[in-house]
Amino acid sequence: GPPITDIGLITYKGFNLIRNVHEEVHLHKLEKFEIRENDIFIITYPKSGTTWMQYILALMYHSDQLNGEHSKRIMEVVPWIEVWMKRIDYSKMPSPRTFASHLPPNLVPQQLRDRGKVIYIARNPKDVAVSFYYFHNFSKLLEDKPDFDTFLDQYLEGKVFGNSWFDHIQGWYSNKDNFNLLFLTYEEMRKDLRGTLVKVSNFLDKNLDDAMLDMIVEKSSFESMRLCPNANLEHQSPKYFDHSKGAMLRKGKVGDWKRTFTVAQNEKFDKIYKEKMKAPLGFGWDL
Ligand code: A3P
Repeated sequence: GPPITDIGLITYKGFNLIRNVHEEVHLHKLEKFEIRENDIFIITYPKSGTTWMQYILALMYHSDQLNGEHSKRIMEVVPWIEVWMKRIDYSKMPSPRTFASHLPPNLVPQQLRDRGKVIYIARNPKDVAVSFYYFHNFSKLLEDKPDFDTFLDQYLEGKVFGNSWFDHIQGWYSNKDNFNLLFLTYEEMRKDLRGTLVKVSNFLDKNLDDAMLDMIVEKSSFESMRLCPNANLEHQSPKYFDHSKGAMLRKGKVGDWKRTFTVAQNEKFDKIYKEKMKAPLGFGWDL
């Protein structure tokens, strides 16, 4: 088809989403979407490890669907609830359903407060900023940013897809008792993937024997996923991603922001972080 030209953001109830991906009619219906007892949601601010956990849940629950001639894309197996993909009726998906979402607590299905499980993954907001900046060049649905400084200001002001990182994390953290929610960090996944998987399987009441654990640890490592076309979204239409300008599995590092942030950018960031974070969340990157 023709290239997508009117790229950029739309705002739904104050939340910035991607114009050619998210549709108001679908978002509106989501509020009343029926949640099942065994539904599993991954919720993140963009660039915090969503694809990683989507891949892990796909391996845990739907590995039969990832292989073979009719193999499905990760995005079909663990779809974004806010994206009305191929007009699929999510209410007809077999259990256990696995979804991903970047939505804030007030826009996810209301019944998720009563049933279902949520895995929230948080990541050092400085690493998120760098990852997000490069993602704008990789994605053809978001505007390229002229330089990191310009992007950083927009990110700190929340004028990006997903709004403000500060609002997202504090919104979900302050609501953690209103949902059946497991809080994880990208950093702990990076440090001890196997330990994190045990935590996740306990939370989900999913029995994983050692062989399964070994398999998932191996297949969801950065090195394996980087070589996996499905994880890298290489099956997506070239209308959506420019694979000559980036990759989904870009660097996968902790603390790599130090190579991008200038001293001045870091000081500005720290100042705003202290202003915006009402209480420390105890995640290691607190100031
Ligand atoms: P970088 O851009 O810093 O490399 P999301 O899926 O939420 O958009 O997050 C993307 C980020 O998660 C990217 O960060 C990507 O490299 C990282 N990531 C994805 N899979 C990973 C893995 N298996 N191990 C480590 N990092 C991973």
